[in-house]
Amino acid sequence: MRSYRGLIEKYRDRLPVAPDTPVVSLNEGDTPLVELRNLPRLLRRNVSIYVKFEGLNPTGSFKDRGMTMAVTKAVESGAKAIICASTGNTSAAAAAYAARAGITCFVLIPEGKIALGKLSQAMMHGSVVIQIRGNFDDGMRLVQEVAQTTPVNIVNSINPFRLQGQKTVAFEVIEALGDAPDYHALPVGNAGNITAHWIGYSEAVCENTRACAFCQGNCGFHRGRLATRRPIMLGYQASGAAPIVRGRVVENPETVATAIRIGNPVSWQQAVAAKEESGGWFGECSDEEILHVQKLLAQTEGVFCEPASAVSLAGVLKDLELGRIGEGSTIVCTLTGHGLKDPDAAIAQSVQPLTVDAELDAIERVIRERLLQV
Ligand code: F0G
Repeated sequence: MRSYRGLIEKYRDRLPVAPDTPVVSLNEGDTPLVELRNLPRLLRRNVSIYVKFEGLNPTGSFKDRGMTMAVTKAVESGAKAIICASTGNTSAAAAAYAARAGITCFVLIPEGKIALGKLSQAMMHGSVVIQIRGNFDDGMRLVQEVAQTTPVNIVNSINPFRLQGQKTVAFEVIEALGDAPDYHALPVGNAGNITAHWIGYSEAVCENTRACAFCQGNCGFHRGRLATRRPIMLGYQASGAAPIVRGRVVENPETVATAIRIGNPVSWQQAVAAKEESGGWFGECSDEEILHVQKLLAQTEGVFCEPASAVSLAGVLKDLELGRIGEGSTIVCTLTGHGLKDPDAAIAQSVQPLTVDAELDAIERVIRERLLQV
C-alpha cells in the first residue's frame, strides 16, 4: 500500500497540475470527519452533526489545502517570492510552504491582532513578517498594489489556485459520508473557503468531463460524478465583522475570532452566489456565543478548535434552536483551525490551574473535593 502523499497526488486528475508540475506538499488534507456523539444528545436534537477537523492539517488550518496548490503553481511559474495579507493562518501556511519550496515569503499582518500561535509559525518558518498599523482589509489592498510593482506572487485566495486546492475538502466529505450532507456550515471571513467548498461540491455532482455551467466555463478538470446532490450552504460571521450578513462593508471590524476580523471580503460575490444557488443563508454569532460553543465542543467532545472555527457550529446550534434546520438532518461543520493557534483565547475563558504544595495530602484533598462536587 502506498502511503498518503497530500491532496495534489490524491486528486491530481481534478486539479490543474501537469505530470511534471513540481509538487510542494506537506501531506496536507485527509483530515478526520468526526461525528459529534454527546452534543446532539445533550441538546436533545435528533440530528447528525459531523465536524471536518481542518485544524489537523500540517500548519493547523485549512489554509494548507490552498497553499500546496498556490506554492506549487508559483514555483512552476518560476516565482522566487510569495506575499500575502493575513489574519494569521494564511501567513502560517504561506511561511511553511515557502520554506519547503525554498522561496522567500512576505506576510502582512495587522499589528497586535493575530493569535500568538500563528505569529510564532510565520516567524519560525523564516518569513519576513511585516506588521501594519491597519487591519486585514488594508493589508489586502496593499498586497494587490505591491504585486504590481515588485516581483512577488500573491497567495491570498484571489489566487485561483488557492480555491482549487481548498475545493478538495468537499470531495473528502463526500467520500466519508457516501454523498453530500444536507447542510454544510462554515465560518466566513474573506469568503474564499465557502466559495471553494461550493466549487468542490458542484464539480462533484457534475458528470461532464469538460467545462460546464457549474464551473462557469473555467474548469476543465471534472472527472465524473462523486455525489448525487449538493448541500445547502450556511455561512456564519462574527457579529462585529459581518459585512455579508448586513449587506455592507464594515469599516472597523472587531471580534474575538481574530481569524475572521474582516470587513470587506474579497470573494463576497462568489459567497453570495454559493448561498443563493444552494438555497442557504448567512447568519451571525456574537463573541459570547462563539466562545461558549468553542468551550462546549472542547469539553463535551474533546475537539479543540480556534474561536473563528466555532462560529460554524455556533451558527448551526442557533439555527437548530430556531427550527431553520430540520430534525433528522445531516450537517457538516468545517472546523477551520486548531485551538492551539490561539492559546490566549483558550486560557482567558478557562478555569485557572490550582497551585498546591508538592505533598500527597494536597493532591488528595483536591481529588476528594472535586469528586464530591460531581
Ligand atoms: N477560519 C479560520 C481559522 C481562518 O483563518 C479564516 C481565514 C476563516 C475561517 C475564513 O475563511 O477567509 O476563506 O472566508 N483566515 C484568513 C487568514 C483571512 O489570513 O488566515 P475565508
